[in-house]
Amino acid sequence: MKRARIVGTGMAVPDKILTNADLEKIVDTTDEWIVSRTGIRERRIASEGESLFDFALAAAERALEMAGIAGSEVDLVICATFSSDLVFPTTSARIQAAIGASGAAAFDLSAACTGFIYGLGIADRFLRTDGARTALVLGGELLSRFTDWTDRDTCVLFGDGAGAALLRAEDDAGHGLLDVRMHCDGSLGDLIRLPACDNRKSPSLGELEADRSFIKMRGNETFKIAVRSLAEVSDEVLKDAGIAHEEVNWFIPHQANRRIIDAVGRRLEIRDGHTYVNIDRYGNTSAASVPIALDELNRAGKLAKGDIVLCAAFGGGLVWGAGLLRW
Ligand code: UT7
Repeated sequence: MKRARIVGTGMAVPDKILTNADLEKIVDTTDEWIVSRTGIRERRIASEGESLFDFALAAAERALEMAGIAGSEVDLVICATFSSDLVFPTTSARIQAAIGASGAAAFDLSAACTGFIYGLGIADRFLRTDGARTALVLGGELLSRFTDWTDRDTCVLFGDGAGAALLRAEDDAGHGLLDVRMHCDGSLGDLIRLPACDNRKSPSLGELEADRSFIKMRGNETFKIAVRSLAEVSDEVLKDAGIAHEEVNWFIPHQANRRIIDAVGRRLEIRDGHTYVNIDRYGNTSAASVPIALDELNRAGKLAKGDIVLCAAFGGGLVWGAGLLRW
């Protein structure tokens, strides 16, 4: 039996830092409110001329370099994003060409903040059943391009960046992805929305300009569902794998809100100091948050062989999911 193992990780974020003090000058907010309600201190924002492709490619190259694997060996490229530079060619197709993965299948995947977990789940199935040997899974967003900088409810939350994981199908020695679960409740879709262009009708130019599309969120209602869903799906993968909560070496949750992360960690009884948090530095980077965190942990040498790693994410759709790995 084959199992998918992560053999390389990478991440890339813009150099430009937007602090809470910077935001105090743009909207009616305070550093104190943002830190106490979200845990965010600063976020990275792409400059004019930078694109999602730039960050996704840098993350992909770092993952390939770490693994010592050539781009030409990649059989599948998945990029989880809802902020692709172009509708098509997709970001994944452009990455496929840039790394020289000729012949590889490539597609973008839209599952909001849970996109990377969905990508892992799909790559896992490809690698175990399809004969594909190597898969590159990316999560990346330029949320700043879809942020209403006059709306204090949302503009303090988001940041830009990309992360990548390179997966290899290996003979099962118990290491790698143990399980990935994906869930959705489309009936709650109105809680977080990015309408972009409503293609159900032909928009006039005036409408298009007036309705430049921004992320809208009913944060308070979303909060409670996020805590419950993240805890439930994490519980589900742990229980089915027969792994006790206290055996988790690293819990890597989607970084949407420090209070959500803490509440889920408490419910799951994750040991103190075993939950990875970087929301203070990057804000909510949607599909990029889990792979960025994974790469930071990996490069800091904090992942030891055999460690149990639990990743979980939640976002607009509503979609949520969890991936369980033995490193
Ligand atoms: O990644 C996808 C999934 N996303 C999530 O899971 C996000 C879930 N939700 C959240 O993280 C939180 O709900 C937010 C951080 C978005 C908001 O925090 P909250 O504690 O739920 O605040 P609230 O929306 O209930 O607002 C409380 C007060 C309001 O004022 P009043 O009506 O009590 O006078 C807001 O107008 O805080 C006010 N407020 C702000 N004040 C200063 C909202 N945004 C700001 C702000 N600065 N930036």
